[in-house]
Amino acid sequence: MVKQDMKLIVDGKRLDGRRFDELREIKMSVGVLNRTNGSAYVEWGKNKILAGVHGPRELHPKYLRDPTKAVLTCTYNMAPFSVDERKKPGPDRRSVEISKVISEALGHVAVLEKYPNTGIDVFVEVLQADAGTRCASIVAASLAMANSGMPMRDMISACAAGKIDGEIVLDLMKEEDNFGECDLPVAISPRRKEIVLLQMDGKLTREEFKKAYRLAIDGAMRVYDMQKKTLIESMKIEE
Ligand code: CDP
Repeated sequence: MVKQDMKLIVDGKRLDGRRFDELREIKMSVGVLNRTNGSAYVEWGKNKILAGVHGPRELHPKYLRDPTKAVLTCTYNMAPFSVDERKKPGPDRRSVEISKVISEALGHVAVLEKYPNTGIDVFVEVLQADAGTRCASIVAASLAMANSGMPMRDMISACAAGKIDGEIVLDLMKEEDNFGECDLPVAISPRRKEIVLLQMDGKLTREEFKKAYRLAIDGAMRVYDMQKKTLIESMKIEE
């Protein structure tokens, strides 16, 4: 992360007017696609993310199968028009990394043993990106999986905290991510009290880390409540 001469905090407020512990506006919905087993759409600030789940289905070729559990694969993809400078279509190092961390996070809660020899595919399409897409993607993928009816031990939620202009703040947007000092994305399974993702880009002191970590978990808990509410609403039967 390169520190440049851009003030990110002016008169105690962030560039988009948020307080240090304030999330961006978040909207989420499930069951938005007809041809998937489960789907979700998440708008998180300027991020726009769609997730679809296929499976469990018989896995081919046979050598990929696991006789003890389903094989979960996540594919994170950024649309060429999702960022300021056109992104070259197709996978790159970053998308392979994010696909891996989302698969691992979801693998902690999906009851994969129930479906041996099958494959479950989770596709995440980033339509518009503005920092924090891995957290928003985890939230969307988790909602889509719940929407598919796949048994889960918990929902996964996520949020980042970080450091800008020497202050620890919640949920960095693009300018803060680009010109700030550190970004710390965290994903949690609250019921199981597990951290299922913890990455850090930049530097923090031990005290700053503790503060940012607590703030990120607090943000993820707020997002977790929204996820639960969204799922409950989606199951309400119209009279
Ligand atoms: O999105 P996230 O914060 O999880 O991951 P990142 O690798 O820290 O990327 C931060 C942001 O940089 C993304 O959300 C995009 O807004 C932006 N980005 C970009 O403009 N062009 C790319 N090829 C990749 C990322």
